[in-house]
Amino acid sequence: MDDPYAQSAEYIDLLIADAWGLFAPGLSEALHELRGETGVTVDLGAGTGRGVAVICASLPDGSPVLAVEPSPALRAVLLARAHEDERLSSRVTVSSADALGVPLPDRVRALVAMNMIGHLSPDDRHELWAGVVPRLVRGGRVVVNLAPPTRPVEVPRTRMASRSVGSLTYEGWASARAVGERQIRWRMTYLTRSPEGSPVSEVAVDYDWWVMDEAELREELAEHGLTMRQIGHPDAGLYVATRAQD
Ligand SMILES: C[S@@+](CC[C@H](N)C(=O)[O-])C[C@H]1O[C@@H](n2cnc3c(N)ncnc32)[C@H](O)[C@@H]1O
Repeated sequence: MDDPYAQSAEYIDLLIADAWGLFAPGLSEALHELRGETGVTVDLGAGTGRGVAVICASLPDGSPVLAVEPSPALRAVLLARAHEDERLSSRVTVSSADALGVPLPDRVRALVAMNMIGHLSPDDRHELWAGVVPRLVRGGRVVVNLAPPTRPVEVPRTRMASRSVGSLTYEGWASARAVGERQIRWRMTYLTRSPEGSPVSEVAVDYDWWVMDEAELREELAEHGLTMRQIGHPDAGLYVATRAQD
C-alpha cells in the first residue's frame, strides 16, 4: 500500500488530539448503547489508537477490540499506546491489514471508521459494508464520521492544529483541490517551529480523498440495510447506523 502517513506519522497523534475532544463523546455514546451485546468492536484505520482508548473506556472490561492499521509508522504508536495500558493490552488486537484485507470476526459488535472513510473509493465502501452487515450482532452498529469538505471543492490553506511539546511547536496545515467528481487531493504540510517561530523541519504530503455528504452516506448505507442518524456534537460530523430490522 502507498502509505500517505509514512512521512507525517510523528505529527499525527499530537495534531489529532484536539479533534478527538470533539469525537470522543459521540463515539462513546454510540457504544454505550451496546453494553449488553457481545462481539468484537473493529476500529478500522485505528491510527495512533485514540479511538481504541475511547472504545475500551466505553465498553465493559474484557470486550475485545480489533484495531486495523495498515501504516507501519502509525501502528507503532498504536501498539505503544495499547501495550502500555493494561486496560488496553488485555483486549486490543492489532492487525496490519487494510479495510478490505482484514478477516472480519464472525460477530461484530461495532465497526468504527473515524477520519478514514475518505481513503476508500465508493466500490471499496460497498465491498466493506457488504462484508460487515451480515456479521453485525443484533443491535450492532457502524460508527463513521464525515470530515469537511463533503463536496469536491477547493480548500484554501488553513492551519488545522497546533501543539507544543517542550520548547518546540508542531503545526498541521491543509489545503485541497478537486481532482474528480468525488475526489479531492489534500496537501498536508507539517511544521516544527523553534521557540522563536522559525521552522526547524517541514514535511509536505499529498493524498487523494473521496468526499461525500450526509445524504450520500445515508443512501449508501441504506442500500446495505442500515439506517443512519447523527450522534454527538453537531460539528463532529459523526453518524451511527444500525440494521433497519434491529
Ligand atoms: C487520518 S488517520 C485517522 C486515524 C484514526 N482513526 C483517528 O481518527 O485518530 C486515517 C487512518 O486511516 C488509515 N487507512 C488508510 N487507508 C486505509 C485502508 N485502506 N484500510 C484501513 N485503514 C486505512 C491510515 O493508515 C490512518 O491510520
